[in-house]
Amino acid sequence: MIDNSIGESYNSVPYHGHAFAHTDINHLSALGALFSLSPKLPSQANVLEVGCAEGRNLFPLAVRYPKAKFLGIDLSSKQIAVAEDRRKKLDLDNISFLVQDVLSMESKDAFDFIIIHGLYSWVPEDARIPLLARAQSLLAPNGLIYVSYNTLPGWHFRNILRDFLLYATRNCISTDDRLRAARESLAIWSKAHSNPLTAGHQMIGTMLNSLNHLPDWYIFHELLENHNNPLYFSRFVEEASAANLQYVCDAELATVSDYDLPEAAQSAVRTLADDMLSHEQFNDFIRQRMFRRSLLTQKNLSIPRSNFAAEVEKLFFSSPLIPTSRSTTGTTFEDPHGVEVVVEDKPLASALTALSSTWPGSLAFNDIHAATSTAGGISRAELGQNLFHCLMQGTVFPHREAVALPSKVEDFPQLSPLTCLEATWDNHVTSFKHEDIVLSKEERFLATLLDGKHSKAALAKLMQEKFAIGEEDVTRILDKMREHALL
Ligand SMILES: C[S@@+](CC[C@H](N)C(=O)[O-])C[C@H]1O[C@@H](n2cnc3c(N)ncnc32)[C@H](O)[C@@H]1O
Repeated sequence: MIDNSIGESYNSVPYHGHAFAHTDINHLSALGALFSLSPKLPSQANVLEVGCAEGRNLFPLAVRYPKAKFLGIDLSSKQIAVAEDRRKKLDLDNISFLVQDVLSMESKDAFDFIIIHGLYSWVPEDARIPLLARAQSLLAPNGLIYVSYNTLPGWHFRNILRDFLLYATRNCISTDDRLRAARESLAIWSKAHSNPLTAGHQMIGTMLNSLNHLPDWYIFHELLENHNNPLYFSRFVEEASAANLQYVCDAELATVSDYDLPEAAQSAVRTLADDMLSHEQFNDFIRQRMFRRSLLTQKNLSIPRSNFAAEVEKLFFSSPLIPTSRSTTGTTFEDPHGVEVVVEDKPLASALTALSSTWPGSLAFNDIHAATSTAGGISRAELGQNLFHCLMQGTVFPHREAVALPSKVEDFPQLSPLTCLEATWDNHVTSFKHEDIVLSKEERFLATLLDGKHSKAALAKLMQEKFAIGEEDVTRILDKMREHALL
């Protein structure tokens, strides 16, 4: 049995949360396959989420995979009551919720995917290995566990804020008083950093500013909780091993690669590291990493880590890169942050252009290979190698099953019933690719009208009345929603 105060704490200040793209079981299954494992297909999976709070991460998956089964557990009865109420409204029969401590959980069916997001570093340290050991016993032989946690050394800096807030609120008794005192002391402290004297001052000032727009429930559980014990990646790997599990990869592959580091940093990490795990740990030191999303599997499975180019052939891919210009030196693509990427290799440029035309949907490896023929072709092995590099750079995303999405906005646009409901909860909605999309107030209002019964012209008229924006703006918003895989 875990510390009783944890459930109480989340009953008094519920954690509203949202969906987390890297927990998408289509993504997790693709990563497992890339590492030569045999995880279940997402559409057939049995999924457990530990610490599911109000179910916001699990509902979009249950809607997308009606034949898969989902169970969310949490210590907080209040959060589970909200999740259960939402389940009834959505009339879903492939998802259930339980007030349950994972440490005492039993199940007759093993789980193919276990998602543990935002929990591992928020439990007492001595509960961590038992928690992983319990998850291991609930995991199918080829199953995967996703665990996220706060990491050192990055959290050494963040802990300055936490220690400050714990001290500034030391005399407060009620939750409301603690939150009020926390906000007031943060505002006072921020003023001390308006004209930073040193780089250290400036860093604290930036961290303080980043808290301004965060909701109370986040501040409370992130910075004022009894338990928040960040750990080094190397320690996490040891704890997983003690629970009969092994590390597969980071759920965000690009965060452990060297590509974006200056050459001197790449060379430092390579000189210091003597194996894959120490390479990742040194990388964390260089990046001052604060958070990780690790994928684990049963310890007895073999992970060759050498077949990537071949395993890639089994997957589907999508890419948000947009080709912007072509010259004799190569094709220039732009990523969603406006960063330009020049691709000199012509077949790879053709592959990325083909992916761009199906975004946000996916293409199978064979279709991408066929697309390279317009640029003289390329061997399957070479394309596999190139796509693997793109995955490690984060310019291409892997999927185990195809992601089929409309290529244009319908005349009578319609959001899923879940998305419409999400837009009534707050300004976060979840895309068909499990991404958390934050809506502006105009987009949120429009979302309530996208029931498939309003034509584009009728929507433009209603938006004109409410926000005085024109038809072109409404078309732009709808196109953006389609590009974000909402429509
Ligand atoms: C920081 S919240 C994260 C919620 C959600 N996963 C998210 O990231 O938005 C941690 C959640 O884990 C739950 N929790 C903590 N220990 C647990 C345990 N042993 N068994 C089940 N749930 C637990 C808490 O009640 C809380 O709702």
